[in-house]
Amino acid sequence: MNFADHRFMKVAGPLINNKEFQRMKHIKHHDESVYEHVMNVSYQSYKIAYKAGLNWEATIRGALLHDFYLYKFDKTFRLRLPVDALKHAVMHPVRALENASRLFELNELEKDIIVRHMFPVRVPRYKESWIVSMVDKYLAVQEYYQNFRKTTSKKYREQYNPVSFDQVRYNEAN
Ligand SMILES: [Fe+2]
Ligand SMILES: [Fe+2]
Repeated sequence: MNFADHRFMKVAGPLINNKEFQRMKHIKHHDESVYEHVMNVSYQSYKIAYKAGLNWEATIRGALLHDFYLYKFDKTFRLRLPVDALKHAVMHPVRALENASRLFELNELEKDIIVRHMFPVRVPRYKESWIVSMVDKYLAVQEYYQNFRKTTSKKYREQYNPVSFDQVRYNEAN
């Protein structure tokens, strides 16, 4: 994730600076927060979409909002956990789209990226939606692995020191 990427930040900035969007910083997800996860998914998807000559602006915005469901999914063990996990997998993109539509003006492509990112639950209609769905899965696996290593290896915990997004603030004047 490169905050010096002016092209990315010009499109992402207005969303990132939104107060509701910032709430994702406090919701844990895989290894870090939902905020860090969507930032990574958005940036990696944007790089692919840009190189492929696709709609990279919609890719950035859709990816930033793809997990904008704003609740913490409880993973503590209980009998209903598999049912609840399935419900969450199916419904969180719908909730994300509802929240995003409330705050931002979205085009068809952005809506598709959000609501269809959980392939095979829903099949993406656009190339940009496929990119976000695949990048999301790829990074989720990486994040789960990092989480697993951190909880099982002291050495890994000490070595792993990511740059926090909180350390960098986007200045709209730039
Ligand atoms: Fe998701
Ligand atoms: Fe995601």
